[in-house]
Amino acid sequence: MSLAGKVAIVSGAAQGLGRAFAERLVQEGMKVLAFDVKDEVNSIEGATCVIADVSKRADVERVIAQAADMGDLAVLVNNAGTWRKTPVDSAWEQALADWDFIMDTNLKGVLMLSRAAVPHLRAAGGGHIVNISTYYVLPAKSDGTNQPDTDLYNASKWALNGFTDAWAKYLEKDNIRVNGMCMGAVDTPMLRGLFPDNELPAEMKAVVMQDSVIAQQMMDIIESGRTGENFGAWVGEPVTIGEQPPLHKRITG
Ligand SMILES: NC(=O)c1ccc[n+]([C@@H]2O[C@H](COP(=O)([O-])OP(=O)(O)OC[C@H]3O[C@@H](n4cnc5c(N)ncnc54)[C@H](O)[C@@H]3O)[C@@H](O)[C@H]2O)c1
Repeated sequence: MSLAGKVAIVSGAAQGLGRAFAERLVQEGMKVLAFDVKDEVNSIEGATCVIADVSKRADVERVIAQAADMGDLAVLVNNAGTWRKTPVDSAWEQALADWDFIMDTNLKGVLMLSRAAVPHLRAAGGGHIVNISTYYVLPAKSDGTNQPDTDLYNASKWALNGFTDAWAKYLEKDNIRVNGMCMGAVDTPMLRGLFPDNELPAEMKAVVMQDSVIAQQMMDIIESGRTGENFGAWVGEPVTIGEQPPLHKRITG
């Protein structure tokens, strides 16, 4: 299925991975609706740029209506994600505020944007949903690297597997493919924010993955036509989509 001239939506596209995904889809000749809560989204060349918050239902409906006016929807990239430390012994009120902060974007936002997009993907004869997760959720290779003080971020990314798995199965009849992308460290503002002065340590700088490489992996996933998988990208290894694993390993690696 040729993507040129069809519509793609990318959430959280002002910077980092989302920006790279949006720019890559523009290169592919798609009409890209890129949105973010940050104004910087407006500088993506060749895209229709929108200020919108994926955790707000009215914003999601506005984004989907605008995308529908642009033509046939073929790709949705659920990229917007947020992060903060959430130690398990934090104050009760803090824990509940952290829950809303992380889950409203990382899960409810994905749920709302995807459910609103599905009728349009279906009407266009099928398409692709890509859920941006993390390497933590591929235990076969990540060697238990969930960070102990980010339980809610970890939980939100594990929960995406449930969406990916169920939606891939349910939507196969409509020719809608649903996959997860599970990357290790990529050089983005989110990663840099973990370090003093936003500077990556030298040893990380030497191996960190680039967003354009992950964006190419996304294109490879879409072009493969595969569905219901979590694709890993590992620091220090070539970024590929690999052989299709047996069914029982497609989500967990
Ligand atoms: N960078 C990494 O190493 C890495 C590794 C694994 C997974 N990820 C995931 O990749 C995705 C992108 O990460 P990144 O590193 O580019 O992060 P980033 O923080 O640099 O960029 C995320 C973008 O999402 C936007 N955003 C956040 N909440 C939003 C909301 N409610 N509505 C609309 N936009 C919103 C932010 O404004 C920001 O522009 C995230 O889901 C993240 O969890 C990143």
